[in-house]
Amino acid sequence: MFDTMTITKAVGGTCGALLAFLLLGWASDGLYAMNTGHHGEGEAKQAYTIDTGSAPAAETETAAAGADFATLFASADPAAGEKVFGKCKACHKIDGNNATGPHLDGVVDRPKASVAGFTYSAGLQAMSGESWTPENLDHFLTDPKAYVAGTKMAFAGLPKPQDRANIIAYLATLK
Ligand code: HEC
Repeated sequence: MFDTMTITKAVGGTCGALLAFLLLGWASDGLYAMNTGHHGEGEAKQAYTIDTGSAPAAETETAAAGADFATLFASADPAAGEKVFGKCKACHKIDGNNATGPHLDGVVDRPKASVAGFTYSAGLQAMSGESWTPENLDHFLTDPKAYVAGTKMAFAGLPKPQDRANIIAYLATLK
């Protein structure tokens, strides 16, 4: 009799646990399904937002890339360029002192890699026979690593042609 009770309790307990386990699994499946449904919806919405958002931006980019540098530079805004220069300030001073990068006073028309006391990369030193022009600064600032192989300038570049034209106009005001 006692043994039967023990077995009954044991079996009952196991069944109860199994049932709870099954119910839990079922409930979480339901939740998971709900989540994925929701997630899917969210993704669909986001993809749509990104599409509409980036389409005009891509057009602007293409139009701006199509506009030639001379045109952009002719109507560039040095005051706007001074704001873009905020991205360079961490490394470049304009008071004649070198920092992580060489000072940029008079950098437009200055011979490349020519600041005394600054140790340039071999790549930039190899270009020291030329000067910085607005045009080649535009190329350098688009993608520094592509323009100077092995450059020490750890900067991704300025993707917007208008930003580059403005900052070069600003740099040209520094003596
Ligand atoms: C993370 C630091 C860093 C940032 C940010 C940075 N530079 Fe530089 N820059 C350097 C270093 C280092 C060099 C030297 C490169 C070499 O030797 O290859 C350099 C070199 C240059 C040169 C060549 C100077 C010369 O004497 O030949 C110019 C021009 C220049 N940077 C402009 C800019 C402008 C404009 C920005 C902002 C849009 C900028 N840099 C952002 C570190 C930086």
